[in-house]
Amino acid sequence: MKKLFIKTFGCQMNVYDSARMSDALAGHGYTESGSAEDADVIILNTCHIREKAAEKVYSEIGRLRAIKERRARTGERIVIAVAGCVAQAEGAEIVRRAPAVDLVFGPQTYHRLPDLIEKIRQDRSAIVDTEFPPESKFDHLAPPGRAQTRDRGPSAFVTVQEGCDKFCTFCVVPYTRGVEASRPADAIRAEVERLAADGVREIMLLGQNVNAYHGTGDDGEWTLARLLRDLAGIEGIERLRYTTSHPRDMDDELIAVHGDLDQLMPYLHLPVQSGSDRILKKMNRGHHPGDYLEIIGRLRDARPDIALSGDFIVGFPGESDADFEATMALVRDVNYAQAYSFKYSPRPGTPAAGRDNQVPDEVKAARLAALQDLLNVQQLSFNDACIGRTLEVLLERPGRKPGQLLGRSPYLQAVHVDDCEHHLGEIVRVEIVAAHANSLSGRIAGTHHKSLFQHELGVRI
Ligand code: SAH
Ligand code: SF4
Ligand code: F3S
Repeated sequence: MKKLFIKTFGCQMNVYDSARMSDALAGHGYTESGSAEDADVIILNTCHIREKAAEKVYSEIGRLRAIKERRARTGERIVIAVAGCVAQAEGAEIVRRAPAVDLVFGPQTYHRLPDLIEKIRQDRSAIVDTEFPPESKFDHLAPPGRAQTRDRGPSAFVTVQEGCDKFCTFCVVPYTRGVEASRPADAIRAEVERLAADGVREIMLLGQNVNAYHGTGDDGEWTLARLLRDLAGIEGIERLRYTTSHPRDMDDELIAVHGDLDQLMPYLHLPVQSGSDRILKKMNRGHHPGDYLEIIGRLRDARPDIALSGDFIVGFPGESDADFEATMALVRDVNYAQAYSFKYSPRPGTPAAGRDNQVPDEVKAARLAALQDLLNVQQLSFNDACIGRTLEVLLERPGRKPGQLLGRSPYLQAVHVDDCEHHLGEIVRVEIVAAHANSLSGRIAGTHHKSLFQHELGVRI
């Protein structure tokens, strides 16, 4: 057996891709190792979304070069590969800057990975494969296997849509992931059925614009709403989620599903980026703050307890104090359960990067701190409001303390459950006794469902 080590940066789609790469290589004699030190093949699956994320890759390669040199002294030749969005954006530049790298491949060509590695082992010269091939990688990959369930236990990611045609002026995704494309509904269904048979209870459907999903179904094109309704019928699937959505694609049909599909969890990540109409226009978001608030209102009408999450960028070129205040006002208006916020990071090749009205870093830092203070207060008060309530929790993994299990509430909060005699994969009713900034603690109030996960995968607590 050969050893494989994959380090994943970036979004959930990269996590999913890494699992598919691992499963693809499992069929060629590779097992995953917990460390880079003894691996024969090391893959860095990278993210290009902000400068910091991209720079991490080069410092990581420096560390790996030392391992490669050490192994070479004992006659071993390991392969270092860079995958993902930095690979797609920088291509051959990576090998020029870091000659220890043997292989560079993008998010659309990783079905070729076993062949590429074999070629490098034979020819010993570096390969860069960052084209957008006409064939879909999904048609050529080995079926999902253990790697897809292992990391998240009874909750699994399934990519249903990739790429983006929206071209927000700050964002690299349309360049690194290519045009917007959806997988056929039957392929998704088959993957979810397989995961359900393996004990998976919750599916998170993934896409950079997941709510723009428009895959081929048995009677023409299916929407995300239609896909969700179909997947909810698969035996064993108790919970469905989807991420990330764009406000422009949040249509009536999808909002209605939030009101009447029990399996669809009452939590939605719906990034708005800014509360200023002027800045949204410069970002090319294609929506106004008012449209966003109106969508939130309709979602709350359909599902009154829906918890909201979002993404924000502060310090976009030209953002004034008044624009930033508009973002703060929108956040107060929505009242988020959880949210991510970032300082604007100019990305090479994107329209906003070249603008001459860049905001100084100190201003960005001060705005980020103010926004995060507000978001943290909202998150904590959302968590506090759960004390005394009984929530259904899907038990996902062992906790740090003996006898403790960690699960997720319907609102995606991490919940620690003590003295738990229950098993991973079970949905239990938990009375919440304490709230913290990023998690809840509770005690068992009853069982909802029996676990299949424990029996079928042999998982022991
Ligand atoms: N498709 C999703 C977002 C994908 S990127 C959407 O349209 O909302 C994830 C988040 O990273 C974005 O929502 C944005 O908040 C942030 N982001 C993207 N580009 C960025 C940049 N250049 N600087 C700072 N944050 C950025
Ligand atoms: Fe990036 Fe905008 Fe596309 Fe989201 S919608 S992936 S932010 S270009
Ligand atoms: Fe990063 Fe690529 Fe995801 S740039 S956020 S890994 S799509």
